[in-house]
Amino acid sequence: MHDGATPETEDRPRWWTAGRIAVIAFAGTLLVLALILVIAVSSDGTTGSGPDRVDALAGSDDDCVACHRNTTPGIVEQYGHSTMAAANVECRDCHEVDQGYPGSTAHEGTWVLASPTSAMCEQCHPAETRQYLASRHGIPAYVAMTGTDGLSADLLAMYEAIPEGGFAPDKERNALFAMEGPEITRFACEGCHNIGRPAADGSVGECQQCHLRHEFSLEQSRKPETCNACHIGPDHPQWEIYQESPHGIAYATGGHEWHWDVEAGRATVVDFPAPTCATCHISAFGSTGTTHDVGERLTWYLFASVSEQRPNADSNRVRMQTVCLECHNPAFVDDFYAGADAATLRVNAWVLESREIMAPLVEAGLLTPEPFDEPIDFVSFDLWHHWGRTAKFGTWMQGPDYVQWHGAYEVLRELAELRTLVDEKLAEAGLLEGE
Ligand code: HEC
Ligand code: HEC
Ligand code: HEC
Ligand code: HEC
Ligand code: HEC
Ligand code: HEC
Ligand code: HEC
Ligand code: HEC
Repeated sequence: MHDGATPETEDRPRWWTAGRIAVIAFAGTLLVLALILVIAVSSDGTTGSGPDRVDALAGSDDDCVACHRNTTPGIVEQYGHSTMAAANVECRDCHEVDQGYPGSTAHEGTWVLASPTSAMCEQCHPAETRQYLASRHGIPAYVAMTGTDGLSADLLAMYEAIPEGGFAPDKERNALFAMEGPEITRFACEGCHNIGRPAADGSVGECQQCHLRHEFSLEQSRKPETCNACHIGPDHPQWEIYQESPHGIAYATGGHEWHWDVEAGRATVVDFPAPTCATCHISAFGSTGTTHDVGERLTWYLFASVSEQRPNADSNRVRMQTVCLECHNPAFVDDFYAGADAATLRVNAWVLESREIMAPLVEAGLLTPEPFDEPIDFVSFDLWHHWGRTAKFGTWMQGPDYVQWHGAYEVLRELAELRTLVDEKLAEAGLLEGE
């Protein structure tokens, strides 16, 4: 209303002012009515990527789409409702490759990848791919299961270039991989650790482990159930811990009202009143930017038997705390970190104690050289791998039952059990002191 053509002047008649007030009041009423209408529409769930988002492929005459609407209607239906289809990204952009491309097959006059690799996504998403490949979700996840034997020189170099990837003590799990054999591990370790699997074209990683094809929906990738595919179970129960934390309770009881589809980079406390796994570890939130490097906000190597601080602990702490500070005050966060650091050191002390208890057996050569072939191997493994780690994860992610009854208590029980087993072995060998 205040454009340059009608400047305010002091010599207007009185009726003009009165008329202007009436017009403003009327316009104001209209505006309020319009706002009520907008709120009513947006709060009934009709926004976002629900089933009512338009099918971007509805009028498509693309060959791939036309034929696959019959052969694999599910794929066309899902992809049609994705943001990428709306942005004119085609089936070919992910699937079509040059003749002879590693891992491709001839298909309908061209060559396709049945399982597009991260190299295909990288063409359009170089930043996300670079961050992902610098994290433990990249090649370290695969090496954790198979070891470095058999890696090509390029892959070995990639592995060694990830500072955090190299921190991989406690190698005995590779022995489990070998002992169980491919019939089992295909459905076990690989189901989770293939998130870092190398592909035939030399690229690494499976973005689709979090971005379930073919919707590639932000909502799905942000929800904690996505992480629950792998971050679950007795040795890394992050999902169970989250569910019993106040953050998880807020999600379970109010999450249906959160703004799951907010544009990446714009999420605030208005969209997410409590954090999910992604909020703390991946998403942009308030003044923190998105990262696909899930190690970037962590200070400890919690998964190790005896935890050490990470090389970038100080800057990583600031990044994570910037997320917390959107909702908690600095004194609360500092006090929480001091307490959680102390709990981590307490668990370290227990694991070191378990090694001292075992030491006489090691010195006397009374343990078999193979891992996992006698009960004591399992007791000493469970002590740190299940219960010690769970106590640490529960502490850092607010799950008291996991710190206590699935954590510290079990550690104490296994310590007692270890003492008994060690004494038995020493007695059998006639080495028990006082005998
Ligand atoms: C005339 C029909 C037709 C056309 C056109 C067509 N496809 Fe297919 N596609 C099929 C059928 C049938 C299958 C399953 C049998 C097979 O693997 O050949 C299939 C399988 C596939 C697979 C899985 C391959 C595998 O090895 O498992 C991919 C990926 C694929 N199509 C992508 C495409 C893309 C991309 C295009 C466009 C460049 C395309 N298709 C065009 C019919 C078609
Ligand atoms: C943004 C990348 C992307 C686009 C675009 C895309 N796909 Fe895929 N497609 C994938 C990924 C990733 C997989 C999963 C491979 C896996 O799970 O190992 C896949 C798998 C497939 C498969 C094999 C699935 C199976 O279960 O056998 C077919 C067939 C297929 N896509 C067809 C299509 C068709 C048709 C289109 C277009 C309507 C399309 N894709 C668009 C990424 C894409
Ligand atoms: C040809 C380029 C191209 C390729 C290849 C491609 N993307 Fe995309 N992708 C885009 C564009 C463009 C957008 C942005 C859509 C928008 O925000 O309007 C996008 C958006 C996305 C989003 C955000 C979706 C949303 O709702 O905001 C995800 C997740 C994503 N892509 C994952 C992948 C993955 C995983 C692959 C490989 C399997 C892949 N993309 C391959 C171009 C591509
Ligand atoms: C249910 C999914 C799942 C299965 C199955 C699984 N893992 Fe893991 N593994 C994980 C997750 C998640 C982590 C990360 C834990 C953390 O950092 O808190 C992990 C961590 C590890 C680590 C420690 C990280 C490192 O780089 O040193 C090793 C080693 C490992 N797993 C090996 C194995 C082996 C070997 C198997 C099979 C015998 C296996 N895992 C089965 C999900 C799984
Ligand atoms: C398909 C399985 C899988 C899914 C899904 C998955 N992860 Fe992981 N994640 C792993 C494995 C395996 C590791 C351990 C890698 C290793 O051994 O080096 C890991 C490690 C991590 C780590 C520790 C990184 C580090 O530097 O120590 C974090 C944090 C993490 N994941 C967060 C998440 C979040 C958040 C989600 C969901 C948005 C998620 N992950 C989804 C398998 C998965
Ligand atoms: C561990 C789970 C996980 C994996 C694996 C993963 N992503 Fe994501 N991705 C997410 C989450 C969570 C978001 C939402 C981020 C947010 O809320 O800011 C996201 C967002 C995105 C977006 C939208 C970001 C933006 O700024 O517009 C793109 C594009 C994307 N991912 C591509 C990829 C590609 C490419 C890969 C593989 C190289 C990949 N992602 C692997 C969890 C994952
Ligand atoms: C309130 C924020 C928050 C939420 C929500 C959250 N985490 Fe965490 N997470 C943390 C913090 C803090 C740490 C420990 C950080 C450190 O080492 O400084 C951590 C540690 C981890 C680790 C251990 C990495 C290692 O060193 O072994 C994994 C894996 C992980 N979180 C995954 C998840 C998953 C999966 C979820 C959801 C089920 C989740 N987190 C929910 C904040 C969170
Ligand atoms: C988006 C907002 C939000 C973010 C971000 C957030 N929290 Fe919270 N937090 C909450 C809410 C809501 C509660 C529940 C408050 C209550 O108990 O009344 C809570 C409670 C807690 C509690 C109390 C636990 C208990 O058992 O009483 C701790 C500790 C905590 N948060 C730590 C953190 C840490 C550490 C971070 C960052 C890594 C973080 N929070 C990030 C919203 C948030």
